[in-house]
Amino acid sequence: MKLNAVVNAEDMRALARSALPRIAFDFIDGGVADEEGLTENRAAFRRHKLVPRYLVDVSRRDQTVEIFGSRYASPIGISPMGIAGFFRPGADLMLARAAAEANIPYIMSSASCDSIERAMAVAPDTTWFQIYGTRDPAIVEDLVRRATALRVKVLVLTIDTPIIGGRERNIRNGFTRPMKLTPGIVLQGLLRPRWTLGFLKSGGVPVMENWKPYSARKDANSVADLYGAQTPAPGQTWEVLHLVRRLWNGPLLVKGVLHPEDALLCAEAGADGLIVSNHGGRQLDKAPAPLDVLRDIRARVGDRLELIVDGGVRRGSDVVVALSLGARMCTFGRPAMFSVAGAGQAGAAKLLKLMRSEIDMTLAQIGCTSLDDLGAHRLASAARDGQPDLP
Ligand SMILES: Cc1cc2nc3c(=O)[nH]c(=O)nc-3n(C[C@H](O)[C@H](O)[C@H](O)COP(=O)(O)O)c2cc1C
Repeated sequence: MKLNAVVNAEDMRALARSALPRIAFDFIDGGVADEEGLTENRAAFRRHKLVPRYLVDVSRRDQTVEIFGSRYASPIGISPMGIAGFFRPGADLMLARAAAEANIPYIMSSASCDSIERAMAVAPDTTWFQIYGTRDPAIVEDLVRRATALRVKVLVLTIDTPIIGGRERNIRNGFTRPMKLTPGIVLQGLLRPRWTLGFLKSGGVPVMENWKPYSARKDANSVADLYGAQTPAPGQTWEVLHLVRRLWNGPLLVKGVLHPEDALLCAEAGADGLIVSNHGGRQLDKAPAPLDVLRDIRARVGDRLELIVDGGVRRGSDVVVALSLGARMCTFGRPAMFSVAGAGQAGAAKLLKLMRSEIDMTLAQIGCTSLDDLGAHRLASAARDGQPDLP
């Protein structure tokens, strides 16, 4: 598939499938175990319907959104994703630039290949930074220090990874460290010569730049070994959130929260918001879809926290549904990775444009001119019984 044939976010998946060796495509596309969570994330969006209101003047529609004192062009952002540079050399900065051009947030993962310093240099106003707790707290402390020095707008602490989930596609494909070059993997590389050439020309496995300062040896393998030794940190507790909160003065989001009580604990620990997420079905397969817990979380924390949803967001209408259920914004991961892997910055830019245009069309179709006018009254259950669909 070619970029000019892409008409929606799901097409980006086909684009990436034709560009990447299967082992790489599956790493992005896959979930854990039976991939129930992955399926459920999409199913949750399908269960909701928006009921249109007509004869409303929708000739002007505004989808800008304000969060943490900044106004963005659309209520969407790019979820943090590690090792993007493996799928296309330079992918992190391509995502950063595409997001800056679209004026939406790009959340750089601390497990990215390019550094947060370089991302802030190319996209200072729209780059957010995501970190994990580390076994040695000195590292998480230093990551926060760097984010502070760079004036990163928003810091994200991901807490849903006490261990890495069982990603069976990776096991089957041999996507493990250290990777053994089996005949099957070599064949996959030969079937995708463009990707393989780009990979080899850029020097093979890219270095996780954010982690370089903490590793005595600076080659890709040594840095990845250190990363693997430091994360996940299964012994981490709420103390890591308290630590980050003490060190970081700016807006702080906690990512991976699904339980309303955890949401409340985040609020009590001084977080400013949550990314309600099940890590895109890549951690606990039996976790609920984030969309399905959104209202309970909103009910538990009231207006104390900004709520962002990720997992299965593939359509502008999904974003409108999530906002109607109480989210301020949605982020998405795989479509962005697929778009950049398949077609570089132009791919990411097209994806953002498509999502923006779908949000705009949905707003027009439901008779809504501003995101402030979204709420439970837009959803089918509210229309059916005449009652607002609130908890
Ligand atoms: C390839 C890949 C790498 C990821 N790496 C990270 C990461 O480093 N940190 C993190 O918090 N979440 C990570 N995630 C999870 C995403 O941030 C996000 O929660 C998920 O992709 C959302 O689901 P979606 O892909 O269906 O949109 C990763 C997801 C993918 C697909």
